[in-house]
Amino acid sequence: MSNIKLQYAEPQNMPFIKECIERFRLDDEDMDYRQFVVAVEKNEIVGFGRIRPHKEVYELGCVGVVEHKRNHGIGKMIVKHLINIFPSNVVYITTDLIDYFKRLGFKRIEHGPKELVEKLQRVCKSKCREGAVVMVYRKARKSEDKL
Ligand SMILES: CC(C)(COP(=O)(O)OP(=O)(O)OC[C@H]1O[C@@H](n2cnc3c(N)ncnc32)[C@H](O)[C@@H]1OP(=O)(O)O)[C@@H](O)C(=O)NCCC(=O)NCCS
Repeated sequence: MSNIKLQYAEPQNMPFIKECIERFRLDDEDMDYRQFVVAVEKNEIVGFGRIRPHKEVYELGCVGVVEHKRNHGIGKMIVKHLINIFPSNVVYITTDLIDYFKRLGFKRIEHGPKELVEKLQRVCKSKCREGAVVMVYRKARKSEDKL
């Protein structure tokens, strides 16, 4: 793992990220390179994830690891990094990988923010990812839970 570096994405990384997002059936809305971090090994992108700003909340999402590098902890590394740099203490995610994110400390919530519930209905249906839910990870509170 020490040979993997996490860094902010650059504009030229986006074609590769977009191709993976399409293949992995991830959220392809509102994609801006400044939202993404990439995991790089030997000058190649092996994974990525983003913090997507909505109107009232931020969402951790689009976590993807290239197929031949899965199950080596890269996904976990990306999620932990995004949690660390997350701009609010409440980290939302919409996902159908409920058990995966439970192990990373996320809890399922029944009533997520309206804009995330709407996104779930819109994106998860179009990507055939039925069964997706809103989950939340609460960082140690500094002051406010809101943006
Ligand atoms: C989900 C994903 C990011 C995980 O990345 P990864 O680097 O392979 O995951 P990690 O190495 O951090 O974790 C591996 C562990 O998670 C488990 N795991 C992997 N996929 C899982 C899944 N779909 N559901 C539950 N657990 C899963 C593995 O069994 C492994 O368990 P172990 O530590 O006991 O051996 C990767 O499989 C991926 O890119 N999937 C396609 C994109 C996707 O669906 N992203 C999530 C969208 S919200």
